[in-house]
Amino acid sequence: MSPFLKIDWKAPFGREIIKYAKLQHRFTKTQKYNKNLADEYTSVPTEALTLPNHYADQIISMVPASVKALEVPQAYLIRMTATDALQPVLPAHVDYNRTCGINFYLEADGEKTHYYEWDRELKSLTETETFVAAQGDCWLIDTSIPHSVTLKPNQQRLILTLSFSHTSFPEVVARLRRVCNV
Ligand SMILES: [Fe+2]
Repeated sequence: MSPFLKIDWKAPFGREIIKYAKLQHRFTKTQKYNKNLADEYTSVPTEALTLPNHYADQIISMVPASVKALEVPQAYLIRMTATDALQPVLPAHVDYNRTCGINFYLEADGEKTHYYEWDRELKSLTETETFVAAQGDCWLIDTSIPHSVTLKPNQQRLILTLSFSHTSFPEVVARLRRVCNV
């Protein structure tokens, strides 16, 4: 099964929503998957930002009842700010406290998301699949599998996400397939 799936949904608001968001957490920790990141790549931190309840509720209301019966996802923003380094990258990682997410790409400019298989014995990554989300796209992605993002210098990436903490990607896909055109 592919670890990502494009969904035909549109976000109810655009990038201006960042004005109402509050920084909650900044992730910079190195994980076992990216300890050997080559020097020419500059690792970029990821920020999670909370939204006022009425905005979060508006986005959660898009989720079909059959999916919410498994888990009501949390809505928040994810921001990656690439510096002017030549090859900014969000290094390979699995998401903390998040199994999968429905991502609305409010700001995107051709960044590529890479998926990997992790070889425990050799402690090495092998790329399996990639996708590029365009601005305005919505994708459900598996965040429990190692993935990385190749960013664009000086380009901010902003994602409005519906985040699941314990429901698996295949479970959400199965429920969405019953009620939506995915
Ligand atoms: Fe991630």
